[in-house]
Amino acid sequence: MQSPIAEFPVCSWQASVEPALQERAQEILEGGGVLYFPRLGFELQEEEQRFLADTWSDGKSKNIYLRGRERNLRGFAGSEDDALALAALIERYAAGARRLLDELLPAYAGSLEPSNTSFRPVEAAGRAQSWRHDDTRLHTDAFPSKPTHGLRILRVFCNVNPAGRPRQWRVGEPFPDMARRFLPRLPPYRPWLATAMHKLGITKRRRSEYDHLMLHLHDAQKADADYQKDAPQGNMPFPAGSTWICFSDQVLHAVMGGQYLLEQTLHLPVAALRDPGRSPLGILEKMLGRTLV
Ligand code: SIN
Ligand code: FE
Repeated sequence: MQSPIAEFPVCSWQASVEPALQERAQEILEGGGVLYFPRLGFELQEEEQRFLADTWSDGKSKNIYLRGRERNLRGFAGSEDDALALAALIERYAAGARRLLDELLPAYAGSLEPSNTSFRPVEAAGRAQSWRHDDTRLHTDAFPSKPTHGLRILRVFCNVNPAGRPRQWRVGEPFPDMARRFLPRLPPYRPWLATAMHKLGITKRRRSEYDHLMLHLHDAQKADADYQKDAPQGNMPFPAGSTWICFSDQVLHAVMGGQYLLEQTLHLPVAALRDPGRSPLGILEKMLGRTLV
């Protein structure tokens, strides 16, 4: 399998990026690759080092996060002052990630919608509850309560581990190969069920057929032990002090270990892509021969 990881020499959140590199970044990202910045670390200030402990988590959520444009920290256990200080760090990361994306991917700049920004202080190995929540299994991201209707999920990750420990990922086969394998096994979409789940408040909006398929592809990948073991894949230890970006609804990924990560999620309409046909929506619609949203 050709490596989906592509290195970029950008070393600053304020860097300016040449047009040729911008082109390459968009091409790789839309093709299902991972943009990797080996020397782009995120600096914590002296008084922020204390947040590098797993005791700040409220124990219910594995991440501490800011939701979209909200200011109040979720998943956090600590004083009001500590919450404000950690929120400031997370907001600084959100601003850095946004600045980098606007420079690296100017074609998306007007269309990117920021979603959650998270700090992940809990060791990633061995924290799984159910198989469905187990991110040590290869998967593409899809969230049961949050239908996207095809909106892309773009994520910027930065390993801030102070002891030099890598974030251990596995990266799987191309999305079309995975979809070809699992699509025939998925349960049919039931529009009445999607309506009922929305009316009952189980989903934030009505699940489209696309959301139904993406959710069941996520589950089918994670539930298949042979697939997890035997499918084409590669190990990628993202070093402390490195950053990487991918469409996590397209790139098959799993996290096997590591601690202390910053992560920014953004949404992008399919229409903003250079080639919407290479998105999960475009790929699934082509395979099934019908519109899915
Ligand atoms: C995931 O998106 O599955 C987890 C990524 C990570 O926490 O490294
Ligand atoms: Fe994921």
